[in-house]
Amino acid sequence: MFLEALKENGRTIQEHLDSYLSTWKDLSVIHAMRHALSGGKRLRAFLVVESAAVFGVLRTQAIWPAGAIEAIHAYSLVHDDLPCMDDDDLRRGLPTIHKKWDEATAVLTGDALQSLGFELVLNSACSPRAAIRSELALGLARAVGGQGMVLGQALDIAAESINSSLTLKEITALQNAKTGALFRWSATCGAILAEADPEPLRIYADAIGLAFQITDDVLDVRGDQEKAGKRLNKDETAGKATFVSLLGLENAQSHAKALIETACDAVSPLGKKTDALKEVAHFIISRDR
Ligand code: IPE
Ligand code: IPE
Ligand code: MG
Ligand code: MG
Ligand code: MG
Repeated sequence: MFLEALKENGRTIQEHLDSYLSTWKDLSVIHAMRHALSGGKRLRAFLVVESAAVFGVLRTQAIWPAGAIEAIHAYSLVHDDLPCMDDDDLRRGLPTIHKKWDEATAVLTGDALQSLGFELVLNSACSPRAAIRSELALGLARAVGGQGMVLGQALDIAAESINSSLTLKEITALQNAKTGALFRWSATCGAILAEADPEPLRIYADAIGLAFQITDDVLDVRGDQEKAGKRLNKDETAGKATFVSLLGLENAQSHAKALIETACDAVSPLGKKTDALKEVAHFIISRDR
């Protein structure tokens, strides 16, 4: 049921993005954008659409920020895979952009995907109110930039070259920025669109964002590469600071479990309409890809 809903939502977002780009120039950077935008679990888009549903926001509105966050996420992956970053050849079961094209195309593709994210969220179909669109765009800029995802990526890289391991507090701050910021924006999106209090969703998002990255780190150690569609067993070799490297596999997993309980408790007061958000929280730690 839940997996079908996730897939169905993924298809809707894919169609939305495909149709938006359908008239763009026949150029390798545009082909590379389409390549980078295809596939994936679409978890962040699902969070946008389901947080919107909690407050009765129209799906025709929610698909705009949902497409936006997937474009931003795709940008972060294209750059994350570059030789100067994680140097990965495989993403979502397909060659990475710098492998299929070249590094310059991958840098430009990431740049263009980032712009696309802002273009989509600022589309008037996202919200009839310009003030809401601009609040979402400002929040997105903060989530992506030097206080959000980019900060987390920079801390992640810096941690590779220090000799001492990070503390639990430091790893939490790193992951909170690296992965948490985009999750936070996605899950609070519905409340912003509806002009409701985003606080319960923010608590929910902080918890699932961390649990999500813990699971990514666990899968890196003991996942199935075929299913994951990306190279695994690379964090330890690269000297990455992860929850698994600090806590060990079992403790990291029980930490993730506890975070999911926190997340579900935070949204419970919002009632039955949060069931899909609870399901996605459980999926996040039980997934194999
Ligand atoms: C992978 O994110 C990158 C991390 C933040 C760990 P996802 O696992 O959500 O990637 P896709 O979109 O499903 O490919
Ligand atoms: C990527 O984290 C996080 C972002 C792109 C912001 P990872 O480097 O752990 O993601 P994977 O394992 O390559 O998907
Ligand atoms: Mg990385
Ligand atoms: Mg990586
Ligand atoms: Mg990883």
